[in-house]
Amino acid sequence: MAEYTTAASCARIGILLSGRGSNMVALADAVRAGKIPNAEIVIVISDQPDAAGLSKAEERGLETRVIERRGRLRAEHDREIVTALRARNVDLVCLAGYMRVLSADFLQAFPRRILNIHPSLLPLFPGLNAQQQALEHGARVSGCTVHFVDETLDGGPIIAQREVPVLENDTVETLASRILIQEHQLYPEAVGRVLSKTAG
Ligand code: GRF
Repeated sequence: MAEYTTAASCARIGILLSGRGSNMVALADAVRAGKIPNAEIVIVISDQPDAAGLSKAEERGLETRVIERRGRLRAEHDREIVTALRARNVDLVCLAGYMRVLSADFLQAFPRRILNIHPSLLPLFPGLNAQQQALEHGARVSGCTVHFVDETLDGGPIIAQREVPVLENDTVETLASRILIQEHQLYPEAVGRVLSKTAG
């Protein structure tokens, strides 16, 4: 990502989500507040038509698009998403609670330009229910990680992490909500860091 595709050197971000969308909101609010300089969110795509994140994006004036899987093969579904991202000259793809594994073609279309946030200190507790995994293992500390997406499950190069203590009486819900607060700070910081390293 030596240079961005727009004349104004503004990084064009595409966000993929499947649900609540609170990390998308954190990114959108950070962009609006100038905390991620020279960036704009040009599209928010959901594979779930009823994802709450879609209306939150619309409330913020962001373009949204639903691209459902509808029984199609992953490669075909991903091709449609890649086409939509390319049509908007997206430079950086941010997964924000996007609950699907990306195909090899998707990864190749945006090499080292796809980021994800995960609610654990990777490489610990990849995959689903990371907060529950942390509690079941008796972890004293958990947290969140922003990483580049590669062909592994939550195993790509780590960009930034934030620790969160696990408390004696934590439930999955209380731990998840304390981690989420940190996610909302960490993701915009990490995106800003990646963009500052890759700009022109
Ligand atoms: C977050 O915990 C994120 O780390 C994980 O999925 C959850 C998405 O939450 N990948 P939201 O949709 O951003 O509120």
